[in-house]
Amino acid sequence: MKSYRIATIPGDGIGTEVVSAGVEVLEALAARDGGFGLAFDHFDWGGAYYKKHGRMMPEDGREQIRGHDAILFGSAGHPDIPDHITLWGLRLAICQPFDQYANVRPTRVLPGITSPLRHVSGPELDWVIVRENSEGEYAGVGGRVHQGLPIEAATDVSMMTRAGVTRIMRFAFRLAQSRPRKLLTVVTKSNAQRYAMVMWDEIAVEVAKEFPDVTWDKAIVDAMTMRMTLKPETIDTVVATNLHADILSDLAAALAGSLGIAPTANLNPEREFPSMFEPIHGSAFDIMGKGVANPVGTFWSASMMLDHLGEPKAAARLMRAIERVTADTALHTPDLGGRATTRQVTDAVIAAIKADNE
Ligand code: IPM
Ligand code: MG
Repeated sequence: MKSYRIATIPGDGIGTEVVSAGVEVLEALAARDGGFGLAFDHFDWGGAYYKKHGRMMPEDGREQIRGHDAILFGSAGHPDIPDHITLWGLRLAICQPFDQYANVRPTRVLPGITSPLRHVSGPELDWVIVRENSEGEYAGVGGRVHQGLPIEAATDVSMMTRAGVTRIMRFAFRLAQSRPRKLLTVVTKSNAQRYAMVMWDEIAVEVAKEFPDVTWDKAIVDAMTMRMTLKPETIDTVVATNLHADILSDLAAALAGSLGIAPTANLNPEREFPSMFEPIHGSAFDIMGKGVANPVGTFWSASMMLDHLGEPKAAARLMRAIERVTADTALHTPDLGGRATTRQVTDAVIAAIKADNE
């Protein structure tokens, strides 16, 4: 029997609560499926680790997880530690060296969940945002001079490479091609940013030629926010730069009903390194330890993980279980306006997995 080794990194805040719920659900799925096994290795990296050791993960941390089949991640972020340290010390310290350049963020209005958009009942909003995840505005290029002096100056340079843009465009076109509508929107800002974003547009035109069956268009990022809000049905697959997609994916999650349900895959499509799966929501220290964190974002991410591992049946079974549970408003956590707990939602999803007959 196949067995997959999963590294879990719960991280900070509600990360620990949702990842342990995710592990329970994955174990129930493996038991229900019978065709594969899962072995979990837990890594206690994050804010608490930083307070003890002065770093977010050990020096050889990446080596410790390099051989795993996938990584299930909670969140990094701690009220006592600056955000750029937690981010660069853990999440980006894994994503970037493991070349997880394709960040995939599906957004749908799940059954039982109400979109804040008046005219959206469900099917009008079914998107996948592809975020460039290795360079651009998150390249880490920049610097500060004359710190603290009145003449201080600072830069954050967005680095785009032809190789980096080409591979994410190809990934996005291929993903669009695999979806029924074969429709891609390339988000840009080449009207104002006349170098890297113009190259981005040019490469989109080049790559599009490889995918004659994909219909595609271009949207300036500011106009894209209006389109997402006013004409969600005109969108299917979206590709955008690291920062643009970061912003648009929060908007997408809110329009689909809650940040608490939104999933992410950080993929290394060539499988030279493990890929990493995580809910979009952050560490949410305000609700930490209260047992009310919404685990659905982690469950959905776990479903993406199973797909990536090559277990589409289990992935689909998990999505069916999630949808059965979200359909019942009595099982909504506070972020969805309900009163259910993480425990109740997890138990209900496990029960739905056990009862699933497909
Ligand atoms: C995300 C998050 C992160 C990001 C934060 C936590 C730094 O917002 O995954 O979208 O900006 O990449
Ligand atoms: Mg974000």
